[in-house]
Amino acid sequence: MTALSSSQAPALALLAESRLVPVLTIEKVADAVPLARALVAGGITMLEITLRTPAAADAARAIIAEVPEALVGLGTVTTAKDLELARSLGARFALSPGATPALLDAAAALGLPFVPGIATPSELMAAVERGFEVVKFFPAVPAGGIAALKAFAGPFPEMRFCPTGGIGEDQAAEWLALPQVVAVGGSWLAPTKLMRDGQWSEITEIARRSLAKLPR
Ligand code: 3PG
Repeated sequence: MTALSSSQAPALALLAESRLVPVLTIEKVADAVPLARALVAGGITMLEITLRTPAAADAARAIIAEVPEALVGLGTVTTAKDLELARSLGARFALSPGATPALLDAAAALGLPFVPGIATPSELMAAVERGFEVVKFFPAVPAGGIAALKAFAGPFPEMRFCPTGGIGEDQAAEWLALPQVVAVGGSWLAPTKLMRDGQWSEITEIARRSLAKLPR
């Protein structure tokens, strides 16, 4: 075990406990706290706030300050600077759609629990070489879906995955039934239209319904 893999342990534990990870693209900072409260009310506490909008960092900051039940991580982390931002905001973890050598080096140096993304065996091997135990499989459905993930398990039986990309409420259970899948991520848990309309109770309901569909 390398130091890097042990720094992933908190991320692995959080993923395994949560099983669902909402991939959140927050357009307005004012939406952040009601959104996080809506998801927490529906039973989901692990939140991935993607760095895809100008509001993302302030949104993460607001949730960390005002919703103590939420376990906030930053997603769409693609540079060392993004990783530093995650740490300076007090995020618990960071996730990336990919895994460049520069990003993997920065993650090792920073010590923040980090889940890189992979879509091919070579990318997976680069993560394994550096001691990663859990990776995001992205974009899960376009990159081959459940069949591809099962194929990865042949040469890499120890690896654990969080598939995201193209997965919805009705497919999460099927992915989670695979022994190598610790959690499933997706934006279906916080649809843009519901956020724009402030339909927070609908988001709570989606979270509840999605959790109820998972195997116990
Ligand atoms: C991600 O970054 O994980 C994806 O954008 C989520 O994909 P989805 O929108 O298809 O759920």
